[in-house]
Amino acid sequence: MSRFLLLTDIQDFERRLRAAVKGVMPGAIQRISAEAAHLTPRDLLTRSIGEPTDVVLFGPDVDREAAFRLARELDLQHPDLAVVLAGTPEPEEIVAAMRAGIRDIADPASDPAELRLLLERACLATDSRRRQGGEGSGGERRRGRVIAVMSPKGGVGKTTVSTNLAVGLAKAAPMGVVIVDLDLQFGDVASALNLDPEHTIADAVFGAAAQDSMVLKAFLSLDETGVYALCGPKNPADADLITSEQVAVLINQLAAEFQYVVLDTAPGLGEHVLAALEQATDAVWVVGMDVPSIRGLNSGLGVLKELQLMPQGRHVVLNFADRRTGLSVQDVETSIGIPVDTVVPRSRMVPLSTNKGMPLLTGATRDGAWRGLDKLAKRFAQDSKQEPKLPRQEVLQ
Ligand SMILES: Nc1ncnc2c1ncn2[C@@H]1O[C@H](COP(=O)(O)OP(=O)(O)O)[C@@H](O)[C@H]1O
Ligand SMILES: [Mg+2]
Repeated sequence: MSRFLLLTDIQDFERRLRAAVKGVMPGAIQRISAEAAHLTPRDLLTRSIGEPTDVVLFGPDVDREAAFRLARELDLQHPDLAVVLAGTPEPEEIVAAMRAGIRDIADPASDPAELRLLLERACLATDSRRRQGGEGSGGERRRGRVIAVMSPKGGVGKTTVSTNLAVGLAKAAPMGVVIVDLDLQFGDVASALNLDPEHTIADAVFGAAAQDSMVLKAFLSLDETGVYALCGPKNPADADLITSEQVAVLINQLAAEFQYVVLDTAPGLGEHVLAALEQATDAVWVVGMDVPSIRGLNSGLGVLKELQLMPQGRHVVLNFADRRTGLSVQDVETSIGIPVDTVVPRSRMVPLSTNKGMPLLTGATRDGAWRGLDKLAKRFAQDSKQEPKLPRQEVLQ
């Protein structure tokens, strides 16, 4: 049961919200006057009857300043509540709203279907925060797990594995997952998730976002499955402007806010990839079922051992598995000298999902590749219930 506390005196807005939840969401809306934005969080919440409040929604007629103040106080005193604002704020006001802890902003003219999506997202956020709050000791926030998906070679399935891992983890931790495209020149996370991002990693590492996580959050895109994404720059030349220190700071900021930070990377061991590895709690090595890919992984692992850049968690995904290659899983294990954790068979469903911009795990066809990717995501979700992993290097800031 989700209880929405709506502050507005506009009947038409209330009517559309009620239409949004009617019959489809097991929620109850309680409306109080827009004036209630001047109350303290305690007084506001005592006005809510019955089930505890999950989402506070400021209608378009609520005084903006009062709404921001109350949102800030709610964020401090009741961090598990989601606060949503209906309005068409100016860009500077959007940043102020995010800083105040406002989770989402809705156009007041939205139709019931759009409003329903907004409320669903807000409820997921509340659920996820409550679950996170229940873990750990004394409500202290743990640093999230940082999972770098890597391979020395291109085209072996890093983007496929990382986007599916993010989608799979978001099933266990809605709103708790962010994927970052660190293939800064030719990244394709946006296309794999069917996103047309307004902002990219280039916005996130320069200016206010690098100092302020709330501003940073305003630059993330949200895909249909509840995964946050920070996509690669639109212009490949921008990759040169981004330093490895900026990448490290960015990963740290995100790890403080999200339960899982999934990093898709460029092939090879360039400076951005090494910076990612320094911050990672886990590395997922993707290897194809062909000799060049296996050789590449072997020499890559050798270099990293020498540099002492191996994260604590190590996972090997054998992708494109196919008996017809003349190699077996054991052959691959013998060559790389470490066990394969997950096998993802070659599947014609994978390119189809890439081309549609819908990761395989969002679909219902459970073929071998689906099962392999699902197993990988579950491995992390299960693992995280146990001992927290440490990053190779603690916060640089
Ligand atoms: N298991 C698989 N079976 C069939 N095609 C795959 C599989 N994994 C990846 N692909 C396809 O291979 C291509 C390259 O994959 P991608 O994830 O972009 O690799 P990378 O990010 O390592 O360059 C994509 O078109 C993808 O759909
Ligand atoms: Mg890729």
